[in-house]
Amino acid sequence: MPHRERYLFVCTNRRADDHPKGSCAQKGSEEIVKKLKAALVARGAAAQVRACTASCLDLCEIGASIVQEPEHVAYGRVTLADVDEIADAAVKGEVVERLVVFGPHAAGRAEG
Ligand code: FES
Repeated sequence: MPHRERYLFVCTNRRADDHPKGSCAQKGSEEIVKKLKAALVARGAAAQVRACTASCLDLCEIGASIVQEPEHVAYGRVTLADVDEIADAAVKGEVVERLVVFGPHAAGRAEG
């Protein structure tokens, strides 16, 4: 399989339920990465864009978190409802600006 044009790294780290930092798996990221993989296949883009599980991206408090490369942006507070929009943008080489918390497209969602 060739190197992909684009990668979506989805944090699926899980901490104990009472851990103060929380974790992305507690916020549904395991289901998010499954749906994202399926969304890319449905768009015929699996050879172009790869969704991968990742360990902690150090964005725990604002998870579920995804990093998109090569755009080098981080998405925060991602839910299952955002997956189709993320897949559509990745296939086009774009980003979902409303979800960006860090990177060139950040709109200040990292606070709170
Ligand atoms: S647990 Fe997902 S970014 Fe840390």
